[in-house]
Amino acid sequence: MASIESILHETRLFPPSDAFQAQANVSGIEAYRALCAQAEQDYEGFWGAQARENLVWHKPFSHVLDESKAPFYRWFHDGEMNVSYNCLDKHLATQGDKTAIIFEADDGTVSKVSYQELYERVCQFANGLKSLNIVKGDRVIIYMPMSVEAVVAMQACARIGAIHSVVFGGFSAKSLHERIIDARAKAVITADESMRGGKAIPLKAAVDEALGLGGCECIEKVVVYRRSGGAVQWDAQRDMWWHDLVKDQAKSCEPTWVNAEDPLFILYTSGSTGKPKGVQHSSAGFLLGAVLSMKWVFDYKPGDVYWCTADVGWITGHTYVAYGPLAMGATEVIFEGIPTYPDAGRFWKVIQDHKVTTFYTAPTAIRSLIKLGNDLPKQYDMSSLRLLGTVGEPINPEAWMWYHEVVGQSRCPIVDTWWQTETGSNMIAPLPGAVATKPGSCTLPLPGIIADIVDEVGHEVEKGHGGFLVIKRPFPSQLRTLWGDPERFQKTYFPEELGGKYYLAGDSSHRDADGYYWIMGRIDDVLNVSGHRLGTMEIESALVANPLVAEAAVVGKPHEIKGEAVVAYVVLKGARPEGEEAKKIAADLRNWVGHEIGPIAKPDEIRFGDNLPKTRSGKIMRRLLRAIAKGEEITSDTSTLENPAILEQLKNAVK
Ligand code: PRX
Repeated sequence: MASIESILHETRLFPPSDAFQAQANVSGIEAYRALCAQAEQDYEGFWGAQARENLVWHKPFSHVLDESKAPFYRWFHDGEMNVSYNCLDKHLATQGDKTAIIFEADDGTVSKVSYQELYERVCQFANGLKSLNIVKGDRVIIYMPMSVEAVVAMQACARIGAIHSVVFGGFSAKSLHERIIDARAKAVITADESMRGGKAIPLKAAVDEALGLGGCECIEKVVVYRRSGGAVQWDAQRDMWWHDLVKDQAKSCEPTWVNAEDPLFILYTSGSTGKPKGVQHSSAGFLLGAVLSMKWVFDYKPGDVYWCTADVGWITGHTYVAYGPLAMGATEVIFEGIPTYPDAGRFWKVIQDHKVTTFYTAPTAIRSLIKLGNDLPKQYDMSSLRLLGTVGEPINPEAWMWYHEVVGQSRCPIVDTWWQTETGSNMIAPLPGAVATKPGSCTLPLPGIIADIVDEVGHEVEKGHGGFLVIKRPFPSQLRTLWGDPERFQKTYFPEELGGKYYLAGDSSHRDADGYYWIMGRIDDVLNVSGHRLGTMEIESALVANPLVAEAAVVGKPHEIKGEAVVAYVVLKGARPEGEEAKKIAADLRNWVGHEIGPIAKPDEIRFGDNLPKTRSGKIMRRLLRAIAKGEEITSDTSTLENPAILEQLKNAVK
């Protein structure tokens, strides 16, 4: 992760080239400023015009923003539309034959789907869902590999007004179970197995396990896409093959017109308590954010081949795989595999083979490929690239420079996009033909996004100082609530301390003299491991659920590739283990966490102690645990600790 020291001294500036600026959708800083000024002068007028221009409405809206029940904002709330119509039907008359998706499987097999074909497949699947009695407002869990079918399933839900909740295929049966129950879903759509790096990962078996954990009576059907052909258990009452479901379905399906505010999806993300939050997004506002950022940030042009490497299980895969590119009528690449299989040239080969113009990935992927040297990327022809993007965590300036020089051949602007599951689309990011970039900074807010940095009582901090990143005005693509928990929504994102009106992002940031934003990291107990959000409390709860464990505390520490690594301090119910026994229990606990949450949450390090450093009132001193994890000297006063001797023990207890 970018250290504060390295970015505070970053002075390199990369203005857009004349050639890029000349062709850009927003060309030159004055054009960017004019858009921002329009939004500031007439906020509703600006957003209303954008929504009319960029979305197709079945029934036009007459109200832009309703703030009467703030912070439960409503946008365009008397309008009707359909997201799938906006992504598919809209293009049929003008570009039905254009390739919508180039799918490259893990083993290198390539298939292409045109807009017409995608439309037909979505319609057939939507009709299939209807035949299962799934209706508007029902929740459908999608637990799928990266595939055309995953996008078809999401679009089909959107088509009939069902609310999808995609669960990342790397999450465990337990995590899936928790989400099924919280969403009270009616169906699960899954695959037999997913293929990653030549290995088959069972998905249907995880669904069986999840449903076997009990309390899932809400689930009526499990639809299974045959991906690998691997063996699966079958419940003839409940399970159904995807191909059987769509076999006799019509290739057209009238979209269900939904209200602009009807939920499009719920996506669970980690927060500072053990329970994941069901972030609920609207239909129209979400799609508007996706479309505008495709235009402004990705400078979308009809000839582009757009490739976002994110899995559809994360927000990036929702906005920039399943919806944004299709709403633009783009050709996009969907890639099933991993960057290092069959070798570490895979990303570069995909770019070369499909003539990718716009490549969007995470700093962690870039850092892992940097380690393998400059030779690999140089073996591929990446001259098709014209724009690069990053997302998910701060990018350290050196990784930025490598991306710029080695991948982008010093020709492609880099858009470092700051946003979140909750914001639905890019919030702070350069418009590449307008805003000069600085390595490590996500630069300036998008037009209409009124960002700021404030102190703990909501007062703006001076430039050059750090504080809490907030968005001061509601914006169309923001989350509407947390599924089933409006109170937590209000408390988490619109805290009273800041006046109850600012959206609190949960990140700290500072702004330099040019007003550029530099994200410093989370202010809550959320870790960012390889660009994935993980709550420390979630991992702690998973650990203490193990019968051996009495107590656990989890913190992050900087990691060269992953950004942050997970360090767990564990107190067992029995004696503190040592030597081989400690190694074995640590390995078991890592697997346990993998099983409870998913492999991404496995602690990188486990340290056993007789107890944890606590104040006399019993509060765990996480600050000290973080310092120990980083190997820092503890210079602060530890006299309030009940058990100062524990610090020495934990320092020497790496497993
Ligand atoms: O801490 C910020 C970091 O990722 C968090 C959001 O995580 P998630 O909801 O999983 O969404 C990730 C993809 C949008 C933020 O609170 N983050 C995301 N993008 C950046 C970033 N930190 C710095 N720079 C970024 N470009």
